[in-house]
Amino acid sequence: MTSLHAPAASSAAASAASSATIPLFTPLDGIIGAETDRLDLSRPLDDATVDAVRTAFRDHHLLVIRNQSLDKERMYRFAELFGPIEGHMIRLADGSKWDAVHTITNLDAAGNPVAKPFISSNYFWHTDKSFLREPSLLTMLQAVELPPNGGDTQFADMTAAYDALPEATRRRIDGLKSVQSLEFMRRYTGSAPPTEDDIAAAPPIAHPLVRTHPETGRKSLYIGMYSSHIEGMPEEEGRALLEELLEHATQDRFVHTHRWRHGDLVFWDNRCLLHRATANYEMGKHRRVLMRVVVKGSVPE
Ligand code: SIN
Repeated sequence: MTSLHAPAASSAAASAASSATIPLFTPLDGIIGAETDRLDLSRPLDDATVDAVRTAFRDHHLLVIRNQSLDKERMYRFAELFGPIEGHMIRLADGSKWDAVHTITNLDAAGNPVAKPFISSNYFWHTDKSFLREPSLLTMLQAVELPPNGGDTQFADMTAAYDALPEATRRRIDGLKSVQSLEFMRRYTGSAPPTEDDIAAAPPIAHPLVRTHPETGRKSLYIGMYSSHIEGMPEEEGRALLEELLEHATQDRFVHTHRWRHGDLVFWDNRCLLHRATANYEMGKHRRVLMRVVVKGSVPE
């Protein structure tokens, strides 16, 4: 336990978690996710509340905490309750690298909205850093500036998608490995190719196509924009299988669309969800700024 867990916060919000009758989180409409407006993350949380948040995260995989306004330090501290914070290898145009708590923005250096996303790959279905040996466990976003409409983030439930596959497909894919590649992703999404250093730091790696969640024991599809091909399968056949699975897994029935509100802090489980940004707002006109921090995960099994 870190100092954040120290007994604290006598506020009604913090002690709400220990109430036996009122659950802290309410499930969102649809297949995944839960929300609460009964937490104030600017203050330390007591142990019971931390446990309630962790349990809700395990059960719902996508949590929305309303009405927050955290600075970088507090956001880092809250994210750290779920594991070590991930560093970043993304280089910005000026050669600098993202901080652990960084910004997703459509603003240029002068603070003006730009018409085209800086990081276009965020608009393709993915699970964060699946090209690493130890891909991201959890990603957390906090709304800073929002367009008047749109700018949503979508999530797709890979456990439900796996469960809904025909038995014959499940038998076909169980035990297969897909190769996750940064270089493939950059081509697939029309992004700038990675440097030799980037590739050397994260060469292509094979992960299970069907991943077992370490906490729930449930199986889910582990696919997305980094999935290049299937190990040991002819390339075209593997690509066709990956595209077929992605199409199946991102049907509306498996997808939740998060429509951002001011004050939202949202985080999700990359081990069993895909996500993507949606360009359903006037990008060159309206500002969209989110703070982001990522918790490091373990080797998928
Ligand atoms: C992300 O892919 O981490 C960001 C998604 C978003 O901007 O909505």
